[in-house]
Amino acid sequence: MASTSTDTPTDAVTVYVDEKVGSDDAGDGSIQKPYQSAAQAIVNHGPSPPLVILTRKSEEEEWVAIGISALKKARKGAEGIEKKRQKALAAEAKAAEKAAAQEKAKDVVLEEDLSLPQAVKTKIKYLEKYRGQRVRISGWVHRLRSQGKMIFVVLRDGTGFLQVIIGGKLSQVHDASLLTNEATIEVVGNLQEVPAEKSAPGGHEVVADYWKVIGHAPLGDDSYLSRFNEETGPSILADLRHLVLRGETQSAVLKLRTALLSSFRHALDALDLKEVTPPCIVQTQVEGGATLFGFKYYEEEAYLTQSSQLYLETVLPALGDVYCVQESFRAEKSQTRRHLSEFTHLEAELAFITFDDLMTHIENAICDTIDHLLATPGVSELMKVLNPDFKPPSRPFLRMSYADAIQWLVDHKIQHVTEETEDLPDAEKVYVDHVLGDDIAEAAERKMTDEIGRPIFLYGFPSHLKAFYMQKMKGPAGEGPNGMVFTESCDLLMPGVGEVVGGSMRIHDADELLAAFKKQGIPAEPYYWYVDQRRYGTCEHGGYGLGVERFLAWIGNRYTVRECQLYGRWPGRATP
Ligand code: 4AD
Repeated sequence: MASTSTDTPTDAVTVYVDEKVGSDDAGDGSIQKPYQSAAQAIVNHGPSPPLVILTRKSEEEEWVAIGISALKKARKGAEGIEKKRQKALAAEAKAAEKAAAQEKAKDVVLEEDLSLPQAVKTKIKYLEKYRGQRVRISGWVHRLRSQGKMIFVVLRDGTGFLQVIIGGKLSQVHDASLLTNEATIEVVGNLQEVPAEKSAPGGHEVVADYWKVIGHAPLGDDSYLSRFNEETGPSILADLRHLVLRGETQSAVLKLRTALLSSFRHALDALDLKEVTPPCIVQTQVEGGATLFGFKYYEEEAYLTQSSQLYLETVLPALGDVYCVQESFRAEKSQTRRHLSEFTHLEAELAFITFDDLMTHIENAICDTIDHLLATPGVSELMKVLNPDFKPPSRPFLRMSYADAIQWLVDHKIQHVTEETEDLPDAEKVYVDHVLGDDIAEAAERKMTDEIGRPIFLYGFPSHLKAFYMQKMKGPAGEGPNGMVFTESCDLLMPGVGEVVGGSMRIHDADELLAAFKKQGIPAEPYYWYVDQRRYGTCEHGGYGLGVERFLAWIGNRYTVRECQLYGRWPGRATP
């Protein structure tokens, strides 16, 4: 039974609060439907007429009058609830006002004023010469800011960025309320130089007199800015690569890539090499069977090319020195920051040259490419974003023999992990000094390159570490201990990235080549066309392959080659 105080005013209302089974939402304060909190009782019934609040902690307890301190707390709680309610009401009113404004905005229809001077339709990069005139620009909303009745847009069209001001009636249309990042719009207006103290891309801005939406972009949770941020992990960023590409850094990397490819072509054309396009579908290996991607080609076995080298060699008698920019494919299971399953391979082949000529050519081709790249309009802006401290390498590049590199590693106490302990946890790995004949692994190579701090031609690798086609070094230089054979091969190592180029002179004697196939257990028959190159007028020749993504990672200061491809391919990643 409920106990009540004797001095209860007669007009008092009694409400019940059951902290366990009561409900602030469904309760009405009666003994059958008590509230859960005294604060809600005060909100619902108010302090007047005087309230009598009877509470209990559970059904097993008696109803008792609320204590003084609990009542004080409940009053405070009630104030809080009331404030929240007022806030919600205000927000609702504002939303209703906005909805009404949007509804009204639907009636505002913009029309281009045809009495104004004709606007010049152009791209952002050409704008400077049209200052003071009416221009028409289309692009994507890169940045967006509203201030009162003004909308400030930074528009992006792939050639540059442009500030656009949309004000007055133009900002009152329905589309303005739906405008968001990555929508496409067309803007027409006067192009004005901005005062020196105000900064705007290109030093000018368009004050719109007409605009329209070409394509909206999602708002809310699905909006561009909600899809990813600095904390998003690499796997999600890769899934969203198609959106990530639109950002300033990634688009700068890709623009640099475009300029780089064109500079390579410029440099190689100037060195009298001709560009050819070899096939990607092949039936022979170049760099070892372990990294071949095989597939069914109609009824036959075929592979995705690992390198176009063999084809380039066969073209020498037809076109002279040649090069190609072609995708190469390697099934490399390792998840490193410099390996891709598909990469862009710039390869060149030169006839009637010596090994020394080859290295000199590579050095010239690279330095000419960099000179051309840095002189390309727009590239200095990209380099400012990506790698402001970049300095072109000084010539000549250091040339270091494989044997000297092994000695350098020993002298600098750079060891390698033994094959037996390679897969053990770090604490159990055993490290030993390098000896002649060892492969110089990525980690050691990187340490050496970073320590020396300039491009290094590492040359003269033992034949057992390299592909079948490599020419033996001439004279005693080709002979190593225990029958080891040193080859006319070279890798170009760049600080921060490691190997960017692999090249060599090729065995040019048909019999020697057949012997090399035999030694490596490769059937010679499928290579009949390659052997014929030696049979029908052979010559000393050599060439190289340059990994475009690694080169770009070096120039653009990227941590991984994965950022240097349009849509990177590595183990487990073939989408988008
Ligand atoms: O040293 P590699 O394997 O040499 C060849 O393929 C020769 N047949 C090229 C030739 O002489 N025409 O590869 C050449 C370059 C490497 O230095 C590296 O920059 C790049 O190609 N490369 C890779 N880049 C990214 N991911 C991979 N998995 C790569 N494999 C090689």
